[in-house]
Amino acid sequence: MVSYKELGLVNSRDIFKKAFEGKYAIPAFNFNNMEQMQAIIQACVEKKSPVILQVSSGARKYANQTLLRYMAQGAVEYAKELGYNIPVVLHLDHGDTFELCKSCIEMGFSSVMIDGSHHPYEKNIELTRQVVEYAHKYDVTVEGELGVLAGIEDEVVAEHHTYTEPDQVEDFLSKTGVDSLAISIGTSHGANKFKPEQCTRNAEGILVPPPLRFDILEEIEKRIPGFPIVLHGASSVPQDLVAIINKYGGALKDAIGIPEEQLRKAASSAVCKINIDSDGRLAMTAAVREIFATQPAEFDPRKYLGPARESLKKLYMHKVENVLGSAGKA
Ligand code: G3H
Ligand code: 13P
Ligand code: ZN
Repeated sequence: MVSYKELGLVNSRDIFKKAFEGKYAIPAFNFNNMEQMQAIIQACVEKKSPVILQVSSGARKYANQTLLRYMAQGAVEYAKELGYNIPVVLHLDHGDTFELCKSCIEMGFSSVMIDGSHHPYEKNIELTRQVVEYAHKYDVTVEGELGVLAGIEDEVVAEHHTYTEPDQVEDFLSKTGVDSLAISIGTSHGANKFKPEQCTRNAEGILVPPPLRFDILEEIEKRIPGFPIVLHGASSVPQDLVAIINKYGGALKDAIGIPEEQLRKAASSAVCKINIDSDGRLAMTAAVREIFATQPAEFDPRKYLGPARESLKKLYMHKVENVLGSAGKA
């Protein structure tokens, strides 16, 4: 057993409290490899933003749990070396079993999500409560989820949103003891969040998706004042990146994300954590595709992963500064 405290990590309690009071959100960026981790840390140090390094169960299998532990510790040291000791959380994204959450806590995670949202309500409470009881013994914070996002969450596919029911949130919090709550108000995972027929065209002919359900968010805030809310599926799917990918042989069709103004509005409410994975995937893929197409003789991985890392860093800096509002808050 290694405590996250020995690795120099922090749990999410204090940073969420500050984010709530300061009306901004902490970035939760997913990572699976060294370049992604470097880009996240470089961007957040440069912008002096707290950060949540987020690992899905798939990422954990891909990268190896032992390496991840040392990468997280390395991330903390790397930030210091870059000149600023930002708060770094290592968080399990979409944990689906008690055993997975326990194993992550034993390997140095400072925060875990137990996603029981696909279970019946009572089962969600029971599973979440079990994780909270274990996690809190080690001062690890826990994110629960109520409501189901449309789209794909690991192996689970939901055709439609099941918006979070505001009437359930107080009961869920008091019965589980979670530290933060992920809700469903119209975001979804992946790069295809909306079908074109769900969108309208603005004056410039750009497809505008239906707005997030801020009315539900407000209702939830009224029931649980001051409690940190989490938004999953918050990539904006930048159309310039989609265009580069498709220009250089990609085949992304109908890729539509959440407009950044809506995320900015959410970040100034009780939403204290915003999850972004797909936009990073797009930035990396666009950079790599462009180099493969324009420099076909290149075969040194540093020559395409290096520019991909730069592109990621630029994207993260933009998110932190202009969307989440967490720049300068570390
Ligand atoms: O919510 C899902 C995250 O984007 C992680 O995706 O399970 O493919 O690593 P993944
Ligand atoms: P995106 O697919 O919109 O980036 O969402 C990521 C996420 O919610 C990770 O949990
Ligand atoms: Zn998610």
